[in-house]
Amino acid sequence: KLVPIILAGGKGERFWPLSRRKKPKQFLCLDGSGRSLLQATADRLLDLAGGWENLWVITSALIAEGVIEQLPELPKTNLLVEPEGKDTAAAVAWATLEVSKAHTKDAILGFFPADHWIGDCRAYLKTLQAATQLAKQQDAIVTLGIKPDYPSTGYGYIEQGETTGKFDSLIAYKVNRFTEKPDQSTAQSFIETGNFSWNSGIFIFRSQVVLDELTVHAPEIIQPLIQKGQAAYSQLEKKSIDYALMEKTQLAYVLPANFGWDDLGDWNGVERLLKGKEDNVEMATHLGKDTKGTILYSSDREEVIVTIGLEDVVVVRDGNVTLIVHKDRTQEIKEVVKSLQQNP
Ligand code: GDD
Ligand code: MG
Repeated sequence: KLVPIILAGGKGERFWPLSRRKKPKQFLCLDGSGRSLLQATADRLLDLAGGWENLWVITSALIAEGVIEQLPELPKTNLLVEPEGKDTAAAVAWATLEVSKAHTKDAILGFFPADHWIGDCRAYLKTLQAATQLAKQQDAIVTLGIKPDYPSTGYGYIEQGETTGKFDSLIAYKVNRFTEKPDQSTAQSFIETGNFSWNSGIFIFRSQVVLDELTVHAPEIIQPLIQKGQAAYSQLEKKSIDYALMEKTQLAYVLPANFGWDDLGDWNGVERLLKGKEDNVEMATHLGKDTKGTILYSSDREEVIVTIGLEDVVVVRDGNVTLIVHKDRTQEIKEVVKSLQQNP
């Protein structure tokens, strides 16, 4: 049995102005389903967990209220609230400590990002079952590898080693090397070898395995948490689990994932999901003349967006903000948000 823990404390600034400090990406409905990314993540995992009482969420104090609003069925005791976001190494470490108190020592834990789109839910659950078996049988930190289709610099890369056997008819491999967010040329060379997959950001393991590995590779994070619990947060370094643990551990394994996956990192991800035959992706009332390849969003559907002679731009209207950005430069939204926060 797997105990799922949803990582829901990120900011998702590349969706600004739709995402705000108290309304991060995981709270947005981006796939047209009417459920937010966080709600969809919980929906997918609920059966596997065997009910809300076995599902956990870890988030930061700033957005905890929003999580409760979005997931009213989640028992309050299953919501871990971090005083401040210290990235995923701290979140995984603290949640592993807390959740293992509530379950048996050899329970298998699974960490899930709250901001992904999954295409084939059945294949997804089957892969998770295989991962759970592997984690039960071996001291393993199991990752799910996505077949890469371009040299992204926004993902972790997993180099596949030798096979370790079949689990639920899926072949698992030892991880030779884990490289978080490589530069462009490194990513390109990884893709060319054909031996690498993207890290999906989902991790499955027996809690003791990760507590031991963190003690070896990231004592500065796990020790204070063991000693002081939540009160240790103010002294913790901001570091992701990928840098703090995955690049260092020898116990990583990978199961190839074939379930349709998208990180929806920015508006281009939404376009990949929603693009039909029309010239533009319209989540707004739009009147376009000679306009194509654009992505348009307005929180208020009564508002009309008119465009003439435009190509490959993103237009987002929310509250008193309008963002207009070229599709190639959505990564830079983060920087602008930062400078706005410094000089509001
Ligand atoms: N509780 C909590 N606290 N959650 C957090 C925090 C935090 O401080 N920071 C981020 N999260 C959550 C985010 O909301 C998201 O659901 C998940 O943890 C992953 O964080 P991201 O910040 O989105 O990571 P990333 O996308 O840059 O990289 C990770 O995911 C990629 C796949 O999408 C890495 O694991 C990469 O290796 C991976 O390829
Ligand atoms: Mg992400």
